[in-house]
Amino acid sequence: MPWEPYHLDTADVEGAVSALLSRLAFGLDVVNRVVWLRGDAAHPFHPAGRPAERRDCTPHLTISGALGRAVYWFRARGVLRRGREWDAAANCRASPPLAGWRRVPAEAVAEALRAHLRAALWAYWPPGRPTGHTLIFGATGTGKTTLVKAMLLDSPHYVVIDLTGEYAEWGRGAGARVAVGSISLAEFGREDLVRIYLWAVAGALGEEASLSAVQWGMLQQLPLHDPAAALAQLRHMRPELSAAVLAQKLSALCAVYREGLGDVECAPWPHLTRPAPPAQVYDVSGAPNQLVAAMVAYGILLGLFRWGLPTGTAVVVDEYHRIAPRAPGVEDIVETIVREGRKRGVRLILVSQAPSDVKAALRGVVHSVAYFRLYGDAAAEAARTLNVPPHVVESLPTGRYLAITPEGPRRAA
Ligand SMILES: Nc1ncnc2c1ncn2[C@@H]1O[C@H](COP(=O)(O)OP(=O)(O)OP(=O)(O)O)[C@@H](O)[C@H]1O
Ligand SMILES: [Mg+2]
Repeated sequence: MPWEPYHLDTADVEGAVSALLSRLAFGLDVVNRVVWLRGDAAHPFHPAGRPAERRDCTPHLTISGALGRAVYWFRARGVLRRGREWDAAANCRASPPLAGWRRVPAEAVAEALRAHLRAALWAYWPPGRPTGHTLIFGATGTGKTTLVKAMLLDSPHYVVIDLTGEYAEWGRGAGARVAVGSISLAEFGREDLVRIYLWAVAGALGEEASLSAVQWGMLQQLPLHDPAAALAQLRHMRPELSAAVLAQKLSALCAVYREGLGDVECAPWPHLTRPAPPAQVYDVSGAPNQLVAAMVAYGILLGLFRWGLPTGTAVVVDEYHRIAPRAPGVEDIVETIVREGRKRGVRLILVSQAPSDVKAALRGVVHSVAYFRLYGDAAAEAARTLNVPPHVVESLPTGRYLAITPEGPRRAA
């Protein structure tokens, strides 16, 4: 019977240790981060691809304390002694050695496994490809966009809201339809426009961005499809202070903005006056300011989810932190969109720098969360979710991520 490599599909150290000790024999491949088993293996063992031979392997049998870099082989001794004594050996191969076995008490094996897996269990996880609605977090330059592009190449249909222009160039190379992202304010109903303004203001204009209840009420009364008329109307609204702040925010929508004696002149940015043609990549990187970028991004998103897309379409928003509405009291647009778009067969992939960029409620409606390298509070939060020590998240190499996916690894209870 051949030896087969497995991942450990669990975040539960004690569970993994007892699953291993319940086998007649196993190999712990510290170099390739798989376990070798023979015969049937069910949960928490998850079939892994055969690892390539690696040279950085030094077979020393160090069962006490930290394990070195090798494959550690264990086999339970005789039927009568089962559970009390094991034979142990180390090598660098995909099958146990013939000689060099040492007798080890069961407690020492358990302790060595526990110590090793406590520090490194996450490394034995199956590298779960995120599926379904997905959140991807990671510090800058850790490989988020690279993963998304790889996922899109496997996706039959996709749409990217590109806030930085990275995907536009890539999309042109990959033969995708690329359009400059734009929306027509005239196309949206009053309620949608108010929501889009609110999300965009809350997302784009920094910490003070939230609208007060009074401003929110005013916003709902304005003819938002016509910024000049809306701004003119604001000048007559009370209380003046709230109206002035709101007017100042909304004026960012105007390429030309002048206040006359009795009137307001506002020529909206071209991004806000015509709908973009259907495309796979909407390039919003040329938006003149963050408010316009956020309006366009949210307008396109709302339209995509509302009007439907081919089943299985992946909708990507990368660099979501640029437009995420963090202000308290403002719903997370993405959560709303996911809920409203649930029956549309659309898959959302949202990429941001820190878990705190998205509201907690959003975590409840997604299927997968992938974490690339993070630091500080963001790493601590990711570590809590993944049930691994924070240093694991802080020391992930570029391109490597840990993910909670529908298929696993399952979190410890
Ligand atoms: N799996 C990988 N293996 C090796 N290098 C990688 C891997 N993934 C990404 N990189 C490299 O890391 C760099 C950053 O990748 P990428 O642009 O995907 O990161 P990012 O997290 O999207 O960064 P940013 O936050 O700046 O957008 C690139 O030079 C890329 O080639
Ligand atoms: Mg990126």
